[in-house]
Amino acid sequence: MQETASSLRRRLELAAELRREYHDVIEGRVVEPRFPEWCERRGWSQFLLGLGDEQVALIEQVGLPHAVEKLRAVPEELAWLCGRVRSLIEQVPLAPLLSSEPLETCHVAQRKRPQIRALVELCRRELPRPRRVVDVGAGLGHVTRALADALGVEAFGVELLASRASRAQALSGGRASFVVADASSGLPVEPGDLVVGLHACGGLGDTLLTQAAAANAHVALVSCCLQKVAGEVRPALSRQGRALGVECSRRTLGLSNVSSADAGETMVRIIQSRAVRHALRRALEARGLDVPAGEETRGVHRRQFRRGLATALGLALGHRGLPPATAAEVAHFEQLGRQEYGVIRRASLPRSALGRLLELLVALDRAVFLEERGHRTALLALVASQVTPRNLTLLACAGGS
Ligand SMILES: C[S@@+](CC[C@H](N)C(=O)[O-])C[C@H]1O[C@@H](n2cnc3c(N)ncnc32)[C@H](O)[C@@H]1O
Repeated sequence: MQETASSLRRRLELAAELRREYHDVIEGRVVEPRFPEWCERRGWSQFLLGLGDEQVALIEQVGLPHAVEKLRAVPEELAWLCGRVRSLIEQVPLAPLLSSEPLETCHVAQRKRPQIRALVELCRRELPRPRRVVDVGAGLGHVTRALADALGVEAFGVELLASRASRAQALSGGRASFVVADASSGLPVEPGDLVVGLHACGGLGDTLLTQAAAANAHVALVSCCLQKVAGEVRPALSRQGRALGVECSRRTLGLSNVSSADAGETMVRIIQSRAVRHALRRALEARGLDVPAGEETRGVHRRQFRRGLATALGLALGHRGLPPATAAEVAHFEQLGRQEYGVIRRASLPRSALGRLLELLVALDRAVFLEERGHRTALLALVASQVTPRNLTLLACAGGS
């Protein structure tokens, strides 16, 4: 817990400044196969168009800020922007893996285990022993159980879905208890409690923080899916964030969820699905439909895009009561989709580079909010981004502890 308040505030200021400066890029989602005005004006288009498929795949894997040093003839401003984003990212240290103590892994997914172990270790080493643990958005209670075991204190989980809470209760074997409740209606938190959220999505993270701060409780929060907020806009929590104007629309926050480096195979699948979605939109337009970007997905479950255009188009046409596609139609739009998506993919790279910036902006606003409420706060990456890119973690010790 070594961060100083001024470091967090300074970083929030820098992130807000960068976001303001590149507002047009952040808001300028690329949905047509041409370079947008924000790209042309800055002289980035030729460079992006000249990138080979392998280079594009590498950039999508690791993010432009980390790939830029391996590329040639990068436009000066783009290199500068990448450097600024990277420097903000690198100021978030990776949490040290403090021990390899075994974790009760029954029913815990492989990918989740290192996250739980790191979170438990951080709580144990960096925060005072709490009175109780309150796990918000507890899911199946893996974190609740692990913390109850590791800290030897009473632990309970709050979970919206009754089915998950009862499964969590069954798995816990009496080591923790679970309540079915909506966290936004109030959490039973008291001073000295530790309020935890592993992947507390969007608004749930903010709810957790405001209630923990009001009760002067310790906090360990790993954020994710920032776009899942109740209203159209996520307001800033901190006074400084409000002064800097760091509120973000839900649509803007969506960028933070898809852009940072993801595990290899996952990113390949994401890109393939996006290419199919684009081809589908073109095929539906050719049938005379007006299809704003995003509307093509109506009638097609997210996972179905992985099965290719023939499946997605079949479902989308069926959903709209239209005759099925011919093989020639599928082949034509597969090819057109591939060509056009090649341009969209390249033009999207600078915008994707700003996804982590938005994630940091929210994390820093939250950290500064807790600082303003007298908590000692640190911002860390829980695990390497290959394990999960949704790894930004706030650790906060309540004032007076
Ligand atoms: C991404 S899951 C994380 C589950 C668990 N913390 C884990 O890491 O395995 C988020 C959980 O929060 C729950 N949730 C969402 N909104 C909630 C709310 N308002 N109150 C309580 N739980 C909520 C969801 O049902 C879901 O189980």
